[in-house]
Amino acid sequence: MSLAALIRERRIVVTVGPGGVGKTTTAAALGLQAACQGRRALVLTIDPALRLADALGLPGLPPGEIKELPVAALQAAGTPARAPLGVGMLDTGLAWQRTIERLVPDVERRGRMLGHPFFRRMQADLAGAREYAALEELHHLHVRGGYELIVLDTPPTVAGVDFLQAPDRILDVLDQDGYRWLLRPALLGGKLGLRVLNFSGGYAVRTLSRFTGLDFLRELASFVDLFSELLEGFRARAAAMKATLRSEVTAFVLVTAADPNLAQESRYLYRRLQSWEVRPGTVVVNRMTPDPGEPPPEGWSARAGRALQAEGLAAAPATLLAAERSQELLRVMHRRDFAQLEVLRELLDHCCDLVPVPHLGQEVCDLAWLEQLRRRLFEPPSGGFR
Ligand SMILES: Nc1ncnc2c1ncn2[C@@H]1O[C@H](COP(=O)(O)OP(=O)(O)OP(=O)(O)O)[C@@H](O)[C@H]1O
Ligand SMILES: [Mg+2]
Repeated sequence: MSLAALIRERRIVVTVGPGGVGKTTTAAALGLQAACQGRRALVLTIDPALRLADALGLPGLPPGEIKELPVAALQAAGTPARAPLGVGMLDTGLAWQRTIERLVPDVERRGRMLGHPFFRRMQADLAGAREYAALEELHHLHVRGGYELIVLDTPPTVAGVDFLQAPDRILDVLDQDGYRWLLRPALLGGKLGLRVLNFSGGYAVRTLSRFTGLDFLRELASFVDLFSELLEGFRARAAAMKATLRSEVTAFVLVTAADPNLAQESRYLYRRLQSWEVRPGTVVVNRMTPDPGEPPPEGWSARAGRALQAEGLAAAPATLLAAERSQELLRVMHRRDFAQLEVLRELLDHCCDLVPVPHLGQEVCDLAWLEQLRRRLFEPPSGGFR
């Protein structure tokens, strides 16, 4: 299925890929494409580059809020938008809070949970917590409705698709430490010492052990007490999230670059997606070196030097030579990038379309440049980008 068809037909699109390749920018361009197709779309970004964040009006937006870019503003930037575009920045702390709010109706109990030192620590540093919170928010917005498409950006982790396992991992953590929950009565009774808890350093135990000065056992017992009830809720939500992400509702777009250093990482991410029973719908190969055109004819720099002289302008021969060399360098990079495209196609088992996107020559710093990127993604020159 083409990228345009994915954006037209799916309800959720997730961009994944190695760090710094353009996941966030691509996510925004995909959302813009939906707006151009007349679909109400929402782009949920994670740490967008400052200038893109500015362009989308994100700075100053309260965490967790969604801002609507009206059709008129999108059109003023030269886009053929037919629907507004929602944008927001994921706030993982807030996403956790909202999850707890949805799962725990009792206000007093909820307050104790959110204020629990272990919970606060968990949302800050538990591997996968950030990703889990992102999925929670995505799932909530999807189920609530209101958007025809939600584009989710993912965090710059090496294993960018690890967030797919986030629901399982969170459950694992709660469960792994769960066997200690059996010890709860003993812990509450203070009959067991720290020695017992040292037999295997589960996450909860390791985390709580950092709380020097606190009554370690008491904190563990109170955590267990507060969270044991939540496990069922977490489990049900995790199952629903996984089903949605694996279904036809969702498409994954793997964003990468034609950099040989990223080839193996791209393959790894692709394999991870596979192991998770999903296939990327499209692979965007971003920031490819564009073709600098025909090489200058033999003796070009000498002739250019003479032409400049005739105009009363001077250019050192070395400067002209350097210009010629830089053109040559671009040609080499262009050839290398396109050769790498083939390598990638092989490495990714010819799984889907590869969409090469040129380096735009500058950062995507405003809506007009985002529109340029959108066009490169969806309206490649006839005959394709070479
Ligand atoms: N096709 C392009 N041409 C030129 N610049 C681009 C292109 N695509 C992205 N960029 C620029 O590359 C930089 C990195 O992009 P972006 O922040 O989207 O990457 P990312 O994969 O989300 O990074 P991270 O992994 O840190 O989240 C930005 O400055 C963006 O403007
Ligand atoms: Mg990013």
